Amino acid sequence: MLAGKRILLIIGGGIAAYKALDLIRRLRERGASVAPVLTRAAEEFVTPLSVAALAGANVHRDLFDLTAEAEMGHIQLSRSADLVVVAPATADLMAKMAGGLANDLASTLLLATDTQVLIAPAMNVRMWQHAATVRNRAVLAGDGILSVGPNEGDMACGEYGPGRMAEPLEIVAAIEGILGGWAGPLAGRHVLVTSGPTHEPIDPVRYIANRSSGAQGTALAAALRDLGAKVTFVTGPATVPPPQGVTVVKVETAQQMLAAVEAALPAEAAVFAAAVADWRVANAADRKMKKDGSGTPPALSFAENPDILATISQLAKGRPRLVVGFAAETDDVIAHATAKRARKGCDWIVANDVSPATGIMGGSENAVTVLTAEAAETWPRMAKDAVARKLAARIAEALA
Ligand SMILES: Cc1cc2nc3c(=O)[nH]c(=O)nc-3n(C[C@H](O)[C@H](O)[C@H](O)COP(=O)(O)O)c2cc1C
Repeated sequence: MLAGKRILLIIGGGIAAYKALDLIRRLRERGASVAPVLTRAAEEFVTPLSVAALAGANVHRDLFDLTAEAEMGHIQLSRSADLVVVAPATADLMAKMAGGLANDLASTLLLATDTQVLIAPAMNVRMWQHAATVRNRAVLAGDGILSVGPNEGDMACGEYGPGRMAEPLEIVAAIEGILGGWAGPLAGRHVLVTSGPTHEPIDPVRYIANRSSGAQGTALAAALRDLGAKVTFVTGPATVPPPQGVTVVKVETAQQMLAAVEAALPAEAAVFAAAVADWRVANAADRKMKKDGSGTPPALSFAENPDILATISQLAKGRPRLVVGFAAETDDVIAHATAKRARKGCDWIVANDVSPATGIMGGSENAVTVLTAEAAETWPRMAKDAVARKLAARIAEALA
């Protein structure tokens, strides 16, 4: 799949640099060539000799290499690859990238390149969660830098949390996805996913919302993408960031979400995981409401929002082949979800119990029952990522 692809691999100075050796091996096994670059700090963790031997290529280490620079080597090197991969991406390298610094070979290449860049961050959990790194991550994402990981787990420093570099095979999968060689069962299929809450304005500064984090919809979009689908991800103001490698459409209100969904059609499947407000404020003010001293609170009146799931399920023309709704219920979950499936006209309903005791809404786990025309299947409680992968596999089967 990666045969003939050229990867410029920048290895930063972190403990995870040893995994970069395995990454080189995995990439070469798949037919890719690897041009390795070591930062000065990386040489403290892996030797240039090991890297060169595994890559079967010279290691680039010095910005002021006279031989290479006779041909403006750093510019050549930065442009000659199909993909630039930074693994491990240290906090330091990420900060340099975000700030546009270019004071060594690695950072200069990253600033001079016109090629897509993928980073695999690796650092101590406190470094990962530090406000400066959080800021740099947002800047890099905004600049179109793709990332894979980090994972959560035990760290070399003895702490636990997010910061472990993605495993070499996960990085390889991300590279395959980016370079378009991905031939999953949904390759080339367009799938629409909605996610997150909606915000319905009361006045310009206040709104009515719900507790949806967008975690389940985001995980689902990522799982469908991983099966090769072209995903359009229509999201309300969620607290989790949207996945990479999908087309993101950000909306606030239910009415905007319906318009974005309609604009994104046609699609072969549509999954409505967003927690859309049933009502909006009919008499929303266009200026901030003020207390008038009378002690009388303002009277809000409500209007029903469009029913996105029913609208798309009942389209006479251009209905996706598979329409999947989510039912968030707090009581009598199966009975309500069964009735909802019939009323809306969708193909499947994924029902979950969001009563506060379950901790599901806003949490990281989900316990769902998938209702189809034929059956109701209850899955054990599992991580939202795992629910997403299982559901994505079902969708792939249904569209096969
Ligand atoms: C033992 C040891 C382990 C380190 N591990 C990491 C790490 O995993 N991630 C990181 O961002 N920095 C780590 N550092 C700090 C970096 O090596 C340091 O910030 C260095 O300047 C990075 O340089 P570079 O970004 O040019 O590779 C480590 C330092 C030491 C001494």
